[in-house]
Amino acid sequence: MPEGVIEYVDRRGRRVRVRRAHRRDIPEITEIEELAFPKSPYPTYVFLYTLSNNPEGFLVAEVHGRVVGYVIFEVRRWLNEGHIVSIAVHPEHRRCGIGTILMREAERRIRERGCDVVRLEVRESNFPARRFYERLGYRVERREPGYYQDGETAVIMVKRLRK
Ligand SMILES: CC(C)(COP(=O)(O)OP(=O)(O)OC[C@H]1O[C@@H](n2cnc3c(N)ncnc32)[C@H](O)[C@@H]1OP(=O)(O)O)[C@@H](O)C(=O)NCCC(=O)NCCS
Repeated sequence: MPEGVIEYVDRRGRRVRVRRAHRRDIPEITEIEELAFPKSPYPTYVFLYTLSNNPEGFLVAEVHGRVVGYVIFEVRRWLNEGHIVSIAVHPEHRRCGIGTILMREAERRIRERGCDVVRLEVRESNFPARRFYERLGYRVERREPGYYQDGETAVIMVKRLRK
């Protein structure tokens, strides 16, 4: 196994490799992004910027050599906490545990860097994602009206990581 690559098995029994994103993954990541957030996908430059500024916080999940999901997280040193910036799984590969695998790996790496709290924002109307985060142990901390550009409220969720 190449260094830094972690292997999991998903609910369909397939090997899922989690590793840092590379420049060559950008077309697949962009495709997943457009399917996952049709109204407000991140433009490609956001991914390129993340690759150069926060490469350790940009992970992909690969199945049979294809990228099927990604997560971006950052460590906010001044707050001593991790922050999930974005996560998406290709629609054909959802409900197989891949999102959970990506979150677990992000949390593990946040923990390794000395933080014991993770925060994230989710659109109030994004019930599937809210359910997903709840299942992972995230709890609603507060609501932030008008957080998103289109005026939608963000739900701020938080999880305390176990030692
Ligand atoms: C949210 C997302 C990343 C979840 O990825 P996934 O690989 O399907 O997640 P998992 O298979 O690990 O799901 C784990 C659990 O989360 C919950 N969950 C996931 N998707 C759900 C849905 N559509 N509806 C209700 N609960 C859901 C379920 O409890 C699920 O367990 P179950 O399948 O045994 O019921 C994926 O749906 C996605 O890419 N959504 C679009 C992008 C998005 O909204 N990202 C979050 C932005 S803040």
